[in-house]
Amino acid sequence: MSGKKTLDFPVAKRLWQYLLPYWRLELITFLVMAMLAMLSLTLPIAIQIMIDDLIPWLMKSGDRGAKLGRVILFGGALIGIYLANILLSWWRDYLAGKIGANIIADIRSQFFGHLERVSLRFYQTHQVGEIMSRLMSDVARIQDLLTATLLSFLANILLLVAIFIYLLNVNWLLTLVALIPVPLTIWLSNLFGKKLHMISDRLQSTIASLSAKLQEAFLSTRIIRAFGQEDTERKKVDSILRTLANCYIRNSVVTSLGSNTVHFVNMIGPIVILSWGTYLVAGGSIKLGALMAFYVLLSYLYSPVRDLASTNIEVHSAMASVNRIFEYLDLPPAITQDPEPVELTNPRGAIALKNVSFGYEENGFRIDNLSLEIKPREKIAIVGPSGAGKTTVINLIMRFFDPDEGAITIDGVDVRRVSIQSLRSCFGLVDQDPLLFKTTLFNNIAYADPKAAMEEVVAAARIANIHDFISGLKDGYDNEVGERGVTLSGGEKQRVCLARAILKNPPILILDEATSSLDSNSEELIQEALNRVLADKTAIIIAHRLSTVQHSDRIIAMHNGRIVAEGTHEELLERSPLYRELASKQLLI
Ligand SMILES: Nc1ncnc2c1ncn2[C@@H]1O[C@H](COP(=O)(O)OP(=O)(O)OP(=O)(O)O)[C@@H](O)[C@H]1O
Ligand SMILES: [Mg+2]
Repeated sequence: MSGKKTLDFPVAKRLWQYLLPYWRLELITFLVMAMLAMLSLTLPIAIQIMIDDLIPWLMKSGDRGAKLGRVILFGGALIGIYLANILLSWWRDYLAGKIGANIIADIRSQFFGHLERVSLRFYQTHQVGEIMSRLMSDVARIQDLLTATLLSFLANILLLVAIFIYLLNVNWLLTLVALIPVPLTIWLSNLFGKKLHMISDRLQSTIASLSAKLQEAFLSTRIIRAFGQEDTERKKVDSILRTLANCYIRNSVVTSLGSNTVHFVNMIGPIVILSWGTYLVAGGSIKLGALMAFYVLLSYLYSPVRDLASTNIEVHSAMASVNRIFEYLDLPPAITQDPEPVELTNPRGAIALKNVSFGYEENGFRIDNLSLEIKPREKIAIVGPSGAGKTTVINLIMRFFDPDEGAITIDGVDVRRVSIQSLRSCFGLVDQDPLLFKTTLFNNIAYADPKAAMEEVVAAARIANIHDFISGLKDGYDNEVGERGVTLSGGEKQRVCLARAILKNPPILILDEATSSLDSNSEELIQEALNRVLADKTAIIIAHRLSTVQHSDRIIAMHNGRIVAEGTHEELLERSPLYRELASKQLLI
């Protein structure tokens, strides 16, 4: 993370982009705030008028009707001012709320959209809870910076200028005296602000780690219980909670200490003014009403000064959030789309890997100079021990990662030139880790095409041999599955995932251990139906169970990122010691 804490020009320009779409609303808000600043001067002026003009006039005038009229006019004007104040405040809050809500939605949407495109590695090296915390609380702080902090900064400047002009107008010497505590206020606000900033930084990162820890614990609850680690996990959470509690306590102590100290310093001005002012009023150089107005306005003066002093701190502290957000937004997308992408129309499903080399950064695993050609409608199987690189080959073909060297083509076109959308529409994937969404079975199966007809969904489910199971459920296809599919058994999940890929009806079907959780009987049942579906498709089938793949057109045996043998079941039995060993362990020979 870049440690920049200041709001420099490029960052400000970037933040400005978020404000720009709402400039009309912002302008109106600013004008409303300017009017409110002016209105806030009216109460002291009214007091001044009341004491210096109205009361003496009332005392002199003999006409009761005229007197009553003046008093009613005065009261009416005050009510009018208050009413205007309330209406304008309401309007300001509504506008600021509207701008803020829109900005927060914009940033979150951009953030989410971007993270959908970054490398899958990102999700291996970052905890979901931490990502969530940035998306939720850091974005909220940026929104605060862009609306509340910025708007109150502008409003305070307006207010200060207006108050200052008025005060000078009443008595410039009194004004200068009244300003004596201002530097002290600024210094103190800065001092306490810095402390608060440190605490709030700590608070934010503690909340992020709490969120990450809780997320992990809730997702792993079965394993935690199975290994009897409830107390250990509880202790870990407790220790974060204690840090958090300490942060909150320090936060409230420092806040209270800061505001009370500043408040005390601020009282010095009014006390001096009151005592000295009394002397001036008695001497006749200033009227009583003017002194009262001056006194009230002084109390208005210090609060914007305090706020302005803390704006600096707020900006600093929000910069941590800004950096955290921009750090993610600046991650390059995992793969980039060609500026003039090729659209594959009616792909035939020919796949070729030419001298492909690839390695994960995190460990030493490498695929070196791998070449493989798959003809349209060919059914090929990839077998090999765990960690051989089978799933990695799929990751490369589907372009979840780009190879370091070499090229992969679909129908002769380099996958890097194909539009990402059109590339992915070529594939139906049943992943090794069957994953369902927390929605109905219908929606899970019709994931790629939410408008699919019921008959199509049922047909796909029949092929995957899951229709009977679904029909037996109380809500049938409307049955909601739990988060990540927890309410289904491993084999049921696999079959729903299979139905999902079949319904998509792609030219290339990739089954990565798609039937590994099924018993041999149900696997055979599916195999038969599947063979019919696969007749006009290219298929890549990865399986540990050789009985699943022995009828494929071609079997590729992989080991340590290399292809060690390829051929039919019989050929490999003859030629490949690795394959023979796998087969004999599975009692196939
Ligand atoms: N996303 C990843 N980031 C870093 N390393 C990875 C990643 N995926 C896999 N690996 C590593 O690459 C190697 C090959 O993994 P791969 O998933 O391709 O194996 P596989 O043949 O599919 O194994 P299995 O039969 O167990 O599924 C492994 O050593 C694994 O630890
Ligand atoms: Mg695998």
